[in-house]
Amino acid sequence: MKEYIIKNKRLGLRNWNASDLLPFTEMCQDKEVMKYFPNLLSEKDVENFIERMQIHFKEFGFCYFAVDILETKEFIGFTGMLHQTYKSPFTPCIDIGWRLKRKAWNTGFATEAANACLSFASNHLKLKEVYSIASKANLNSIHVMKKIGMEFHSEFQHPALLKNELLKDCVVYHSTL
Ligand SMILES: CC(C)(COP(=O)(O)OP(=O)(O)OC[C@H]1O[C@@H](n2cnc3c(N)ncnc32)[C@H](O)[C@@H]1OP(=O)(O)O)[C@@H](O)C(=O)NCCC(=O)NCCS
Repeated sequence: MKEYIIKNKRLGLRNWNASDLLPFTEMCQDKEVMKYFPNLLSEKDVENFIERMQIHFKEFGFCYFAVDILETKEFIGFTGMLHQTYKSPFTPCIDIGWRLKRKAWNTGFATEAANACLSFASNHLKLKEVYSIASKANLNSIHVMKKIGMEFHSEFQHPALLKNELLKDCVVYHSTL
């Protein structure tokens, strides 16, 4: 049985488990899903990612949560918060992020999950603020930031993406909780 940390009408958000490895690898090898990331992820990369999320969850009680559709129990990707420590004017910080499989786009799921995370961050985690970061070209992601009420904060060049002309210029959005 899956134990949900956050539930709303359509979605359940939870810690990761071994059964997420294959569907998440499939997602992270989809060129459309990974259009605004520097590379596709191998199964080993995904295994490492899942392990990082589990460790973060154990330590802080949150991570980029795995997201299921409650009605079908289908895993559709992640939405959640994570500590970020790369070098930038606004780090260290906690960011909110999302990545859903293509089948789950244009359903309102990303915005719904993100709103649920903001409430959880404020009411349960007692966070005071969160940031969200996307490459300037990633309009779908920036649209979600705006829909959940985040405000433009700044622009910066992501230190991990400096060699990537399409991705290096990023926007930062911010929300006071
Ligand atoms: C970023 C991402 C999560 C956004 O997903 P999305 O499906 O565009 O976002 P939403 O869940 O908010 O759904 C958007 C549309 O669903 C439609 N929709 C359908 N049913 C809906 C419902 N019941 N409620 C709300 N919207 C609904 C709306 O038209 C809405 O668009 P609008 O706000 O312009 O009207 C998705 O593009 C993605 O996973 N991309 C790849 C990974 C990625 O780039 N992550 C971000 C890295 S920074």
